[in-house]
Amino acid sequence: MNIQVCKDTNSIGKAAATMFAAEIINNPRCVLGLATGSTPLPTYNALIELNDAGIVSFETVRSFNLDEYVGIPRSHEQSYYSFMFENLFSRVNIKPDNVQVPTPASTDLNDDCVAYDAAIDAAGGIDIQLLGIGHNGHIAFNEPTEVFPFGTHIVDLTESTIEANTRFFDCAEDVPKKAMTMGIGSIMKARSIVLIATGAGKAEAVKAMIKGEVDPQCPASVLQLHPNVTVFLDAEAASLL
Ligand code: F6R
Repeated sequence: MNIQVCKDTNSIGKAAATMFAAEIINNPRCVLGLATGSTPLPTYNALIELNDAGIVSFETVRSFNLDEYVGIPRSHEQSYYSFMFENLFSRVNIKPDNVQVPTPASTDLNDDCVAYDAAIDAAGGIDIQLLGIGHNGHIAFNEPTEVFPFGTHIVDLTESTIEANTRFFDCAEDVPKKAMTMGIGSIMKARSIVLIATGAGKAEAVKAMIKGEVDPQCPASVLQLHPNVTVFLDAEAASLL
């Protein structure tokens, strides 16, 4: 792992955006893996600036998002689909037909999961994947468990994840309890991975990811086995290393 400690969230956003921009400039038809949550926002803002400045064009870029809640429609203001349009897709020149966010809508949600992995494979796989990390070490919605789940699947969200996401809803009861998420295998197949963690609340998870055993109880620890991972941290998130 290439670990970079940066001065603040804006410099992390700029550094991560530079890696995505370089990928796009080298391969305008590349496939991006994208994340939601608070962590990626400075990166998306920096990418929007690069697009506005004419330095990067998303014209032929395709993207796949990591995850989506089960049980709320795409049009819901807290769906990850809405989040991505609000914070990135509607603000750069990416084609709406070229973006995919998991859509758990069939009567058999497993069909949606299989179809999502097939779509990623058909696109040639993910060239560069952006990740945040949960307080419990989750990546995407792969929560601590006994074995690393391979492909895209449906998960029950843990109490700690529901609690962390309550800030976006009126109350904990409104937070969806299930999600459709790329699996650990789907993420590990990405050719390169950029993980960002900021704030003291992420310090324990960052320590377990980098210094701990590779263990599905800290899903992010699997990244120790990936050949091309860059981790951007601020001083607080790096404080236990
Ligand atoms: C979001 C995702 C999650 C978040 C993680 C951190 O698509 O996959 O794993 O990256 O929960 O969330 P924030 O960035 O809000 O702290």
